[in-house]
Amino acid sequence: MPTMLDRVAYAAGQTARVGWFLAHYAAGRRQLKPLPRPDFPVGPFPDRQELLRDMRQLFAREWDDIAAGLFPPPPVLDPDPVAWMRRSALYFRDLPRVDERRHARINDEPNNDPAHAHLPRYYRQNFHYQSGGWLTDQSAEVYDIQVETLFTGAADVMRRRTLKPIAAFLRDRDQRQVRLLDIGTGTGRLPGFIHHAFPGLQVTGLDLSQPYLEHARRTIGASKRLKWIEGAAEALPFADASVDLVTSSFLFHELPRKVRAAVVAEMARVLKPGGRAIISDSALETDRPEWKGLFDLFPYYFHEPYFADWVTSDPDTLFTTCGLTPVATEVAFLSRVMVFERPA
Ligand SMILES: C[S@@+](CC[C@H](N)C(=O)[O-])C[C@H]1O[C@@H](n2cnc3c(N)ncnc32)[C@H](O)[C@@H]1O
Repeated sequence: MPTMLDRVAYAAGQTARVGWFLAHYAAGRRQLKPLPRPDFPVGPFPDRQELLRDMRQLFAREWDDIAAGLFPPPPVLDPDPVAWMRRSALYFRDLPRVDERRHARINDEPNNDPAHAHLPRYYRQNFHYQSGGWLTDQSAEVYDIQVETLFTGAADVMRRRTLKPIAAFLRDRDQRQVRLLDIGTGTGRLPGFIHHAFPGLQVTGLDLSQPYLEHARRTIGASKRLKWIEGAAEALPFADASVDLVTSSFLFHELPRKVRAAVVAEMARVLKPGGRAIISDSALETDRPEWKGLFDLFPYYFHEPYFADWVTSDPDTLFTTCGLTPVATEVAFLSRVMVFERPA
C-alpha cells in the first residue's frame, strides 16, 4: 500500500510536470501568429479555472485508485533530463514551421515523399500540422512534448485511466498468462505505464511508424514481456482469438470512419472470447456539451481531419455492430475510456 510519502511524491511530481508543460504552452502561444477568426459558429468554452479544476479531479481520481492498491504510482518514463531539455529546444525550434503550415493549410507533405507510397493515403498527412507527419525521427522525438503541451501535462494521466479496467480484468487471473496488444502505440507511453503497473503481462505495441517504434524501443525499453511491432491496426498480424486485451490511446480520432470500423472489426477478431478492448480517446461532444467550443476549434487550429467525425460518433453502436459488448465508460478530463468485451 502507498505511504504518505508516496502521496507527497505523487503530488509533487505531477504538479511539477503540469507546471513544466503549462510553461511550454504559454511560451508557445506567444510564438504563434494569430489565425483569422473562424467563420463558423463556435460553442461555449470552459474558463481556465474550470479546466484546471477538472484536471485536478482527474489526478485525485488516479490517486484514489493507487491508494486502493489497483496499480502503483506512475513511474517517470524516459527520465533523462538532458533528453527532455533537448526535446524542449527542438519543440520551440520547430514551432515556427508548424505555424507556417497552419497558416498555409499545408497538411500533405508526407504524401509527396515516394518513400511513403506503401502506406495508406489517409495516414500520409501532417496530423496536427506537425513536421514529418508520423514519419520522421524528429517527429517521434518531439511528439510527446507536443501532446503534453497541448494538454498542459494531462495526457499521461488520461492514458493511465486504462489501468483501472486492466486491473479489474486481471483481478482473478495470472497476469503472466495474459497477452495485451496496444494498437497505434506511437512512442509507447501507454505500454510503458502498463508494463510498469503489471510487469508480468505480455505486452506488444503496434504502429505503422518505424521512427515512432524505434523511439519507443529506445526510451521505454524492450524485453521478453514488452515488444514492438510494425503493422496496420486494420490488418492486425495476429491470429483469431489470440489476445486477451487490446488497448489504444488517442488513435481513433485520427482514423477515417471506414478505417475506424475496420480497426474495431480487427480488434473483435483477435480478442479471445471474454477478452476486452480498452480504448482511451478524445471525449465526445455529448460528454462535454458545455465545452463544445473546444471541440469546434481543435480541428481548425490543428490539422485533425477526422476529429469532428469521431466526437460526434456513437462508439457503442460501432463496437456492438462488430460483436463487442459495452462494459464501462469513464469521462476523464478531455478524454473518455471505453471498455468492451467479446462475449464468452
Ligand atoms: C495520435 S498518435 C497516438 C499515439 C499513442 N497511442 C499516444 O497515446 O500518444 C496516433 C498513432 O497511431 C498511429 N497510427 C495511425 N493510424 C494507424 C494505423 N492504421 N495502424 C497503426 N498505427 C496507426 C500513428 O503512427 C501514431 O503513432
